[in-house]
Amino acid sequence: MIPAAAQSRFRLIEGEQLQSESFAEAVEAGLSRDPKKLDCRFFYDETGSLLFERICELPEYYLTRSEREILVERSREIARRFPRDTILVELGSGSSAKTDLLISAWIAEHGSLRYEPIDISEEILRESSLQLLERHRRLTVHAIAGHFEDGLRRIESAESGAKLVIWLGSTIGNLTRSQAIAFLRNVRGSLSERDGLLIGIDLRKDVGILENAYNDAAGVTADFNLNLLDRINAELGGHFDRARFRHEAKFNSESGSIQMFLVSEESQEVAIDEIGRTFSFGAGERIHTENSHKYSIDEIDSLFHEARFALAERWFDSNGLFSLNLARPLP
Ligand code: AVJ
Repeated sequence: MIPAAAQSRFRLIEGEQLQSESFAEAVEAGLSRDPKKLDCRFFYDETGSLLFERICELPEYYLTRSEREILVERSREIARRFPRDTILVELGSGSSAKTDLLISAWIAEHGSLRYEPIDISEEILRESSLQLLERHRRLTVHAIAGHFEDGLRRIESAESGAKLVIWLGSTIGNLTRSQAIAFLRNVRGSLSERDGLLIGIDLRKDVGILENAYNDAAGVTADFNLNLLDRINAELGGHFDRARFRHEAKFNSESGSIQMFLVSEESQEVAIDEIGRTFSFGAGERIHTENSHKYSIDEIDSLFHEARFALAERWFDSNGLFSLNLARPLP
């Protein structure tokens, strides 16, 4: 619940696209393909979202820590580059934990802020908005429950002020390189020249460091991956036995991405009641569950160029593992 005192500073807007393709349809289609595939956005049910938050704290998972370090140091400087009435729009805001750093710096610099987080989970939006509104008296939140496309449409139709679109956590890594260009072109199309894009992108590096980040010793990432099977069991009447699958995460140097799979330990048949079908798995057969693309500096530069953005500033964490990039739309 949003307390009465903060009520006037909060609005929740429902996107139109939330129930596009149902989970059942997506699972049926993905498991009917060869090779089998499930979309990584299905990781984030309640358990999956909690597991992801634990991933962010793992010693091996440097991404969140690195990006946070950059935001601690640079938030004030970022805020200073934009006029005071700029609207802060965040794609895939999740818990907004890192964004809190930017929000605090912004309010310290400009006195107040309007923040528009966009996330598929209405639950998480309400929760994180409440926390932010309680912490910051001079903050207004217009939350948008929906897909990024809903958010982009909102950005376009937003009134006057400048906008800073932020996309943190290297979520862009889930897209292929060509999808990433197409998506950023879309973002570019929704912005005018005084606006900005702040985007966190994970860097190419030693394969050992990369693979460790997705094969943590505590097994949290394995749990996160296998939770997809539990979710199918719980929501679709699936009969997966997670002990007969194992987590795999490997760097594919051709695509330049960490790829995650669920590997069937033996040949088996798995029924999913809601779909009314049984799916066969060979011994060692894999379900591809995620891509996490890593970028070199040159690749980031060309990504911006292709999407018609110009780099304004780039920051790195002290270990040089992660990049935060501020870009401006090109005319
Ligand atoms: C949220 C997409 C940035 O690819 O690193 C973490 C998700 N998957 N561990 C990533 C994830 C396994 C994460 N992103």
